[in-house]
Amino acid sequence: MLNDNKMKEKENGEHYCLGVESTADDFSVGISTFDGEILANIISAYVPSERGIHPREAARHHGEVANKVLENAFKKARIKPRDLSIISFSQGPGLGPCLRTGATVARALASYLGIPLVGINHCVAHIEIGKLKTDTKDPVTLYVSGGNTIVSAFDSGRYRVFGETLDIALGNCLDVFAREAGLHQRVDEPFGAVVEKIAAKGKKLIHLPYTVKGMDMSFSGLLTAAINLLKRGEYKLEDLCYSLQETVFSMVTEVTERALAHTEKKEVLLTGGVAANKRLQSRIKAIAKEHDAKFRVMPREFAVDNGAMIAWTGVLAHTHGIVTPIEESFVRLRWRLEEVEIPWMK
Ligand code: ATP
Ligand code: FE2
Repeated sequence: MLNDNKMKEKENGEHYCLGVESTADDFSVGISTFDGEILANIISAYVPSERGIHPREAARHHGEVANKVLENAFKKARIKPRDLSIISFSQGPGLGPCLRTGATVARALASYLGIPLVGINHCVAHIEIGKLKTDTKDPVTLYVSGGNTIVSAFDSGRYRVFGETLDIALGNCLDVFAREAGLHQRVDEPFGAVVEKIAAKGKKLIHLPYTVKGMDMSFSGLLTAAINLLKRGEYKLEDLCYSLQETVFSMVTEVTERALAHTEKKEVLLTGGVAANKRLQSRIKAIAKEHDAKFRVMPREFAVDNGAMIAWTGVLAHTHGIVTPIEESFVRLRWRLEEVEIPWMK
């Protein structure tokens, strides 16, 4: 049963969008009103085996939990499927089997309910929920996670990529190093957080390759070098973690600062799973201050992959005329941020 308030909202024409996120190791469902009130954001994380994420295993997890996550989202939002106006889903970029599982759930719901489907770019969604939740309007965004390292800002109708990784993502670099070092992660303490804790005890800065080419970054050579030093056993783990963090954070800070100087934007937004790192936060905060820009960091619930960001971006897209017909709702594994037109930004 709808409670009285919700019943009134529905009568008054309150609209809701349900968003499905499944690009990588999380399956999540969010529900947003058309005004940007997030009514539910249920996240089910798949914790991979010691060897790292296997796309098909993660996809199996998503399929298994989908029902329960949907049910919990409706319960939390206190609405029923029939109250929804649109369904949105993360259409890419991401891992094929994972994306396809989420897309199947979203298509089934939209066709059963006879309501529009909207395919959303995952990276756009990170930026939009960031703006919504931190009250920023036009930031330079540093999005750092296990699968992405992107510095972007809005220009002429799109979010332009000012700098990105040429190989692996920053979060992935920390994760692989942690795994090689024999560390263990938990749902509430991912590898990056484990490395952060150990790095806090480090003092000695060990030289590691620093690779920024133009505005792009490379982390794989540095990762190999760090692993080699680890295996040689000459350095303390805390000094290696400290040096790894300092080097990778200096790289993203340099690129973010240059994007800020070039665009002259007055806001900097830090998001993605790695945004939780206090050391990274202080580095980015410092450059924002130097450029007289406001610094904002996303709270963890909305910085990691989440359905709420897909639901909210679904609202923005749909209210600006975007619909994804079922026959065009195939997933887009390498869908780039700057390919997406952003009609809601002026
Ligand atoms: P995406 O699909 O956007 O690439 P993802 O699947 O990697 O995202 P997120 O939860 O956004 O998921 O990010 C996870 C990454 O964040 C992991 O690499 C993890 O180690 C890292 N991370 C989490 N907490 C911290 C921290 N305190 N310091 C550094 N890294 C962290
Ligand atoms: Fe993400």
